[in-house]
Amino acid sequence: GKVAVLMGGTSAEREVSLSSGQACLQALLAKGVEAIPFDPSTRPLHELVDLKVDRALIMLHGRGGEDGTIQGALEYLGLPYTGCGVLGSAIAMDKIHTKQIWQSVGISTAKYRIVTQSTFDAGSCSAIMDELGGIVMVKPAREGSSIGMAKVNCAKTLATAVSTAFRYDSLVLLEQYIVGKEYTVGIIKDRVLPSIRMSTPHTFYDYAAKYEDSTTQYFCPSGLSDEEEKQLRSLCLDAFNALSASGWGRIDAMRDEQGRFYLLELNTIPGMTATSLIPKAAKVDGVAFEDLVCEIVATSFA
Ligand code: DAL
Ligand code: MG
Repeated sequence: GKVAVLMGGTSAEREVSLSSGQACLQALLAKGVEAIPFDPSTRPLHELVDLKVDRALIMLHGRGGEDGTIQGALEYLGLPYTGCGVLGSAIAMDKIHTKQIWQSVGISTAKYRIVTQSTFDAGSCSAIMDELGGIVMVKPAREGSSIGMAKVNCAKTLATAVSTAFRYDSLVLLEQYIVGKEYTVGIIKDRVLPSIRMSTPHTFYDYAAKYEDSTTQYFCPSGLSDEEEKQLRSLCLDAFNALSASGWGRIDAMRDEQGRFYLLELNTIPGMTATSLIPKAAKVDGVAFEDLVCEIVATSFA
């Protein structure tokens, strides 16, 4: 059948989405699949029906693509699509709801506080810093690719970081920074990919470390013992299921110096350029990029 690769969109991650979409489109064409690009920000979605598209490979990152809205529209059009459904997408787009659900099933996630413009009191910065362990990640609740985020280690800079985050979202998450190492784990259907460890000279794994410079180091195998690798993979699979996620996705995690894992978030439409994290892990597992893209398209058959 004919596959539309949905890419672009209007979120802050538009450029990343165009890269993921192009890479997937090329992979499908190389596999002999009839595939077309489609940017829902430039044309109405119902044109997919006129174009006689059979299914949609959603490569839209961030709001409007990863948050359940386009999934709902595709359901309405009766078109099968890849990845999570409406509920799992909507929950995972929101880091706060994600944490609340994980907490409720006993999955460790860093200590946090939620602030809105009306509840944030700049006079309480010192108290917040103390409560959250002295180093705080400031995150718009519903963004991706580290956009609008900051790592703060003194009360004086917290208010500025929070007001930057409010430019991206009315809901801001203040989260204890877990001192340790950062990992990510991809899931494709029932298969959990080997974990990757990321190491950056930046103060954290920010937008530039992700996409713009070559200083980030990626380790896969990640250097965990077999036991720890097994533990992390099964934790991530449980965490994926707890959010009503399905299809595919990638969970980001920290491991503190005592060896405890804390989950950060689930990305339901992770980056899919040839150098992105999931393709790296799949390659270590012996799966070529083109085949990986076909596996993701197959999640739309569920
Ligand atoms: N939000 C980006 C695309 C990722 O998680 O890979
Ligand atoms: Mg993300």
